[in-house]
Amino acid sequence: MRTIAVYNLKGGVGKTATAVNLAWHAARWKHRTLLWDLDPQGAASFYLGVDGAKNYKPGPLLSGRQPISRLKVDTRWPDLQVIPSDVSLRNLDIKLSEGGGKTQLRRLLDPLSESYSLCILDCPPTLSPVAESIFAAADVLLVPVIPTHLSIRAFEQVRDWLKQKKYGDLKVLPFFNMVDRRRLLHLQMIGTPPPCMRGGLKTIIPYSTHVEQMGEHRAPIGEYAKGTPAARAFRHLWFEMADKLKL
Ligand SMILES: Nc1ncnc2c1ncn2[C@@H]1O[C@H](COP(=O)(O)OP(=O)(O)OP(=O)(O)O)[C@@H](O)[C@H]1O
Ligand SMILES: [Mg+2]
Repeated sequence: MRTIAVYNLKGGVGKTATAVNLAWHAARWKHRTLLWDLDPQGAASFYLGVDGAKNYKPGPLLSGRQPISRLKVDTRWPDLQVIPSDVSLRNLDIKLSEGGGKTQLRRLLDPLSESYSLCILDCPPTLSPVAESIFAAADVLLVPVIPTHLSIRAFEQVRDWLKQKKYGDLKVLPFFNMVDRRRLLHLQMIGTPPPCMRGGLKTIIPYSTHVEQMGEHRAPIGEYAKGTPAARAFRHLWFEMADKLKL
């Protein structure tokens, strides 16, 4: 099983939209896919039409008293299951910092590796103990970056932190998201990407109202706006990721 964490320290950059659309594409290509919604906001679960987590208790989960496999829920798409989230997950930070080390999340994922070929983690915007556990569990960190100075700066902070904490083995793949070609700054940044974007993905996801409508449809964009530039871009993102991961 390969694990992709869709992560950025910055909020509102499109992590959840990316995680949901990638997971949907993976499942369409018959990869047994699990999306673990690690954000107490529960947006990924909501987009996939799943309401609320059942009996989700970080303490018993981390101690092994609550098997993780019991938390997964079917979606209406074959080969795509989700571990939903809700506010009960808000204590995960505290529980993770209470002990057990940063490999706790990886240990939780281990028993799932026989059932799934891909696990996608939708991460909250944080550099808390949850983030450290995520970095230790993931094979790839997929980072949506909006072409603005603040968004680039947040990504540089993540890169520096990873270097400092010696997560050298973790593959970090940034890509530009919410690109509005009418904006000069966006055009300049995608024309001459800053050094931190080197080695990232080539796919560019445009700013699109179709993406915003995921909440209305409670579905990935490919379900209701197929053929639009944003839907095609997410499809392309999936192919580029699948190629990188040799899926
Ligand atoms: N390519 C896009 N074009 C237009 N709107 C987008 C795009 N991607 C995401 N959005 C919108 O931007 C908002 C934030 O997106 P999303 O929730 O995916 O970000 P996030 O990084 O997961 O946020 P958070 O840090 O709060 O978890 C949402 O309203 C979403 O619909
Ligand atoms: Mg999110």
